[in-house]
Amino acid sequence: MLLVTGGAGFIGSNFVLGQAERGIVNLDALTYAGNPTNLETLKNQSLHHFVHGSINDESLVNQLFEQHKPSAIVHFAAESHVDRSIKTPRDFMETNVLGTFTLLEAARHYWGKLEGAEKQNFRFLHVSTDEVYGSLSPSDPAFRETTPYAPNSPYSASKAASDHLVRAYFHTYGLPVLTTNCSNNYGPYQFPEKLIPLILHNALNDKPLPIYGDGQQVRDWLYVTDHCDAIATVLEKGELGEVYNIGGNNELANIDVVHHICALLDELRPRATGNYADLITYVTDRPGHDRRYAIDASKMKNQLGWSPRETFETGMRKTVEWYLNNSAWVEGVTSGTYREWIEGQYD
Ligand code: NAD
Ligand code: DAU
Repeated sequence: MLLVTGGAGFIGSNFVLGQAERGIVNLDALTYAGNPTNLETLKNQSLHHFVHGSINDESLVNQLFEQHKPSAIVHFAAESHVDRSIKTPRDFMETNVLGTFTLLEAARHYWGKLEGAEKQNFRFLHVSTDEVYGSLSPSDPAFRETTPYAPNSPYSASKAASDHLVRAYFHTYGLPVLTTNCSNNYGPYQFPEKLIPLILHNALNDKPLPIYGDGQQVRDWLYVTDHCDAIATVLEKGELGEVYNIGGNNELANIDVVHHICALLDELRPRATGNYADLITYVTDRPGHDRRYAIDASKMKNQLGWSPRETFETGMRKTVEWYLNNSAWVEGVTSGTYREWIEGQYD
């Protein structure tokens, strides 16, 4: 039995769907980013138990540990969008920092009472980001697990704080923790506030494709199910207290990502007139925008035998096809509050 937090969000729901044969208690607050329809196929599945609630609710979290006696917790729940963290940072401190603290405390009390194999096998896996390492120049080596932390946005600072709490619970209390720091994910069920689904959504609605600044910022892209496989691998084989960097070996400038999407759409769903790239529009840059992220995932490969299966080309084709075939899902998540966010952010 796994206790998963944030399992109705983008990565969490992909993880839960991929682990459907396991017993899962899925705790999610269903914020704007959480969507129960992602889990529609598990509706009549007795192994999946969905709980609508917050990781900040101490008594609920304690009760879930006591009632379901999980063998591990996989912690995805977070406020995850950098632009929102610039506008409303408090939400990020509450969920990412205090929420993680609440989970660690509950796990510590629960684990403290376990005995024998149950105690030995228990794991707290914390899902984090490469953004905690800050920004690289073009010639810098990729982030390693030993790269010093230098977060630059309220989002990455809140994730860095949560990583430090997880580390402290291992060193102080011996709580059996694992931390993963991953690069940019893309794939099915990603909320269209993030670059790739936003570009797809705007392109299909003949709207401008907004590129922040000069579009030369570099990210490393990983197909979401490769990230989920990496998490399952760390859960199974990771060494207690260790940190694992996860990446796709796909460093690309934002403008090149957008051109790639436009070319795929030109092929799969041509516009009535012109090409999709005609919609590209340069807009005001994100404040404090990190220039480059890159991940050295050699520890995952050499110690745990994990490598990504998808290339950027295969993963992007699957992603574009998924969004084209799931317009009802996109329509469902792009109603009222989504429109308000887009108007506030891009006007
Ligand atoms: P997301 O925003 O799509 O989903 C977050 C989920 O957490 C939602 O279902 C939301 O309802 C839930 N949630 C938010 N606050 C909650 C609370 N207080 N209690 C319970 N549930 C709450 O995020 P995502 O992109 O799927 O990211 C998942 C995790 O992976 C995050 O911790 C993020 O920092 C990390 N991460 C994301 C990426 C990426 O590219 N998306 C890369 C590396 C790491
Ligand atoms: O690196 C991992 C991180 O990747 C995760 O921890 C975060 O949760 C996730 O949101 C993501 O952060 P980014 O800020 O890199 O992702 P986003 O999709 O918001 O932006 C990707 C790049 O595209 C970034 O350089 C900003 C740029 N961008 C984004 C948007 C939304 C644009 O140029 N235009 C846009 O409209």
